[in-house]
Amino acid sequence: MKAKAAEKTSKRAPSPRRSPSVDEVPTVSRLSPRVPAAHKGIVSGVVVTPAQIRRRVHELARAIQSDFGDREWVVVALLNGSVLFVADLVRELHGPLILDFIGVSSYGDGTESGNLVYTKDLKLEVAGRDVLVVDDILDTGRTLSEVIRRLRSLGAQRIRTCVLLDKPSRRVVKQGADYIGFQIPDWFVVGYGLDYAERYRHLPFIGVLRPEVIAAAARERVR
Ligand code: XMP
Repeated sequence: MKAKAAEKTSKRAPSPRRSPSVDEVPTVSRLSPRVPAAHKGIVSGVVVTPAQIRRRVHELARAIQSDFGDREWVVVALLNGSVLFVADLVRELHGPLILDFIGVSSYGDGTESGNLVYTKDLKLEVAGRDVLVVDDILDTGRTLSEVIRRLRSLGAQRIRTCVLLDKPSRRVVKQGADYIGFQIPDWFVVGYGLDYAERYRHLPFIGVLRPEVIAAAARERVR
């Protein structure tokens, strides 16, 4: 990985077949003001467009496919934020793979992560299997590191991690990911699965949530 954000989740050396483009994680440092008219009141700028997401998902999938090879692996996607991302990602993978979901929620104030609670357990057996964990965003690192701990305790053999977004400046736990879509600054983002109070997951792009939206939601809560 370009930035040292990627503390490998397994000590195994990366596959020499890994595509170079996946190791060069694009860093987004500026927002595009070209917000679709319908969403101008919600986001102040676009972080990644639908076309950029499509291209990057394709690159990530190529690298994952060549690293995992022919032995069936389990894709474990974290609910709810990774749903749109994993749906696009698995359609770019040839497999062989099986897909399952794990529910983890952090209870904070909506923009800060708090204590982790499992809301849905895995259905598939991961003992002795290769696993790819997929999440929307790596922020403090607490969620991914807890899920890795759980998968290890369930006997998963080889665990790789893939996140669409990485906010390295926010890290609290020493945790990276093996495949990263984009690195972003400390912005609170919504869209393409990412929510604020369960809203805005459906946006086809990723944008920075306007502070006024957060302030209005806080006023609603007080009432
Ligand atoms: P941690 O801090 O455990 O966070 O790495 C991972 C989870 O926190 C949520 N998160 C966000 N959600 N916009 C969101 O909609 C953000 O900017 C953001 N940052 C963190 C997310 O659910 C992720 O899985």
